[in-house]
Amino acid sequence: MQKTTTSEKVATGAAQSKLILVGEHAVVHGQPAIALPFPLIGAESIVEKSRGQIYLDSSLYSGPMELAPSSLAGIVNTVKHTLKILQIPYRDLLIRIRSSIPPGKGLGSSASVAIAIVKSLFKYKEEQYTKEILLQLANICETYAHGAPSGIDPLTITSDRPIWYQKEKPVDYIDPKGNFHFVIADSGQMADTKTAVDTVKQMLKQAPQKMYKKIERIGDITYQVREALEKSSKQLLGYLLDEAQKELEALGVSDKSLNRLIEIAKSEGALGAKLTGGGNGGCIIALAENEHHSQLLSEKLLQYGAHNVWSYELKG
Ligand code: PMV
Repeated sequence: MQKTTTSEKVATGAAQSKLILVGEHAVVHGQPAIALPFPLIGAESIVEKSRGQIYLDSSLYSGPMELAPSSLAGIVNTVKHTLKILQIPYRDLLIRIRSSIPPGKGLGSSASVAIAIVKSLFKYKEEQYTKEILLQLANICETYAHGAPSGIDPLTITSDRPIWYQKEKPVDYIDPKGNFHFVIADSGQMADTKTAVDTVKQMLKQAPQKMYKKIERIGDITYQVREALEKSSKQLLGYLLDEAQKELEALGVSDKSLNRLIEIAKSEGALGAKLTGGGNGGCIIALAENEHHSQLLSEKLLQYGAHNVWSYELKG
């Protein structure tokens, strides 16, 4: 359905995506995680003055915001809270959302869209936003998407450096030495972070001692990954990504589609590979030897059925 606007006023906001390098799931239980801003894909929100009720226009839904499907409840509530803070009347707006981030793939789609919307609404009202308010409003959306999110996605999306994140501690930033070439491959399967987080919770309930050891082991690996990044040690980083994957598999959050892509990446010479994000579908992240190798890996992964691939260089 097309919606006409009065085009009196237009404001835009944009946000990048994110990758979790290591520490997903363990971060929910108090361990640190390392996440990377991922600028190759992102979301944009364009707000225009319109007439009548608020209208959303996105690839997932186009129509009056009040009638949006429950899958968009997080976005809808972020819009409502932002309008309230800005004292913008709850009407006469068209919000267009454009995103190159595949949703439900552990790449931070919901947080990125929420941040783009908040930025565009602040711009529309010609008010400055602080990072704190951006995070606070994006976390409303995350709560709908994840239940009890660690908060790592909005923090990474609003950062220009890799972040070191541990719940209830101030965020720290990592300065990698040297360049690291990663390949991110989409398995094509939708990931459901909320269910994956619940699976880990169940495992912890059933076998607390055994499972907490795995969570702690991921925490130890995360400390070592930081060292590998700061000392430009690719071989060590690759080994650690493999080790993290073993623990994630044991926690029940990897699946056939991810394991297959990881196997392909490894057999094509990846230094290490693991799932990234919530798991049980979604994407893998593999470490290549260099730029040329990352191109080859990308081609192979596509050839063997990856839905999409991105070659990403983390620059030191
Ligand atoms: O949003 P995703 O799918 O990248 O997952 C976030 C990472 C988890 O550790 C699984 C959940 C969280 O809230 O930290």
